[in-house]
Amino acid sequence: MATAVRRVAVLGATGSIGRQALEVIDASPTLEVCAFSSGSSPLNALASAHGAEHVQVGGDLAALLDACEPDIVLNAVVGFAGVGATLWALEHGVTLALANKESLVAAGDLAVAAWGRGGGLLLPVDSEHSAVFQCLEGRSREIVDSVVLTASGGPFRNRSLAELESVKVEEALAHPTWSMGPKITVDSATLANKGLELIEAHFLFGIPYERIEVVVHPTSVVHAVVRFRDGAALAHLGYPDMRVPISFALGYPDRPETPIPSLDLAAGMTLEFEAPDLQRFPLLRLAREAGVRGGTYPCAFNAANEVAVAAFLERRIGFLDIATLVEGALAEATGTAAGDLDELVEADADARRLTEGRLAAA
Ligand SMILES: NC(=O)c1ccc[n+]([C@@H]2O[C@H](COP(=O)([O-])OP(=O)(O)OC[C@H]3O[C@@H](n4cnc5c(N)ncnc54)[C@H](OP(=O)(O)O)[C@@H]3O)[C@@H](O)[C@H]2O)c1
Repeated sequence: MATAVRRVAVLGATGSIGRQALEVIDASPTLEVCAFSSGSSPLNALASAHGAEHVQVGGDLAALLDACEPDIVLNAVVGFAGVGATLWALEHGVTLALANKESLVAAGDLAVAAWGRGGGLLLPVDSEHSAVFQCLEGRSREIVDSVVLTASGGPFRNRSLAELESVKVEEALAHPTWSMGPKITVDSATLANKGLELIEAHFLFGIPYERIEVVVHPTSVVHAVVRFRDGAALAHLGYPDMRVPISFALGYPDRPETPIPSLDLAAGMTLEFEAPDLQRFPLLRLAREAGVRGGTYPCAFNAANEVAVAAFLERRIGFLDIATLVEGALAEATGTAAGDLDELVEADADARRLTEGRLAAA
């Protein structure tokens, strides 16, 4: 029997994940694109090359998804702008391949509720979460002791606090193991990315924060580890290449072939791990605190971080100022839980205003 072709809405198609997803889709006989979106980049050439009927530059992604009725939504938008699409897919029970971690961080409670109502699949594209998903698959949470997310440590793993004062934008954009869009690359350098992933893991897997650990693992070969109550642990290993988790999510549950080589252990591979330094990388601590406080604190963390990273990329502030701004905004935020998307959008806007105010005063 022929396998049905599944129609994918590729949101954030012009970005790093979007372009790699297109490679995966082009190589698959069972996937086709039905829609493309971008923030501001033109899409017409891409759409005609892939036969996508629906395109949208900026604007309301829910309207695009209503129009194209996809089988899979690949959310590879960067930032809070991806929230509407995440909630749309979860509410409609449409399979969501989620790269846009910010949406689950900002809208975690609303997203989990929508997922419960919609009852569809939520497949993480983040490599660490894809790894946890695979280690947990088919196992009850009761037997899980804890989850470990690995972090490469970024380009500044060995820099002193004094050296971090003066790092340049170009240095922050030179990631040692992953090639990614500018926002997540800076987040990886500050470890805010791992903070976002910690909150993302909490909502994705329903695991309390105290059972989610972050360890630094410079070569990014082990993506995650799940420890079980009997003392055993399962790890997920692979070369760092996002086409693997993208392919896993879009091809689920078939685990299609990819061009990525299998792991060559005999070639001499060392696996090193160390605890993250929360003194030099306070955004990981701030994310954990925001997650534990709950309500819209994670939303405020995300919003303040987005504003601060944009200011760093525009060279308006230094590298360490990113954490200072986020800490200040979190101290002022009310954290009041959001009952719906409008309230969440308000909390996001409030945190942005607080951060912009601090930026202007600096
Ligand atoms: N890159 C990775 O390896 C990686 C790994 C794990 C998770 N992720 C996550 O995946 C997401 C995308 O990351 P990326 O590295 O692919 O980012 P990216 O290269 O910067 O691409 C972002 C995409 O989002 C679009 N976009 C930007 N602002 C938008 C807005 N306001 N409304 C709608 N669309 C907008 C961009 O369109 P324009 O071209 O018009 O700007 C682009 O298509 C992020 O949440 C990131 O954390 C990425």
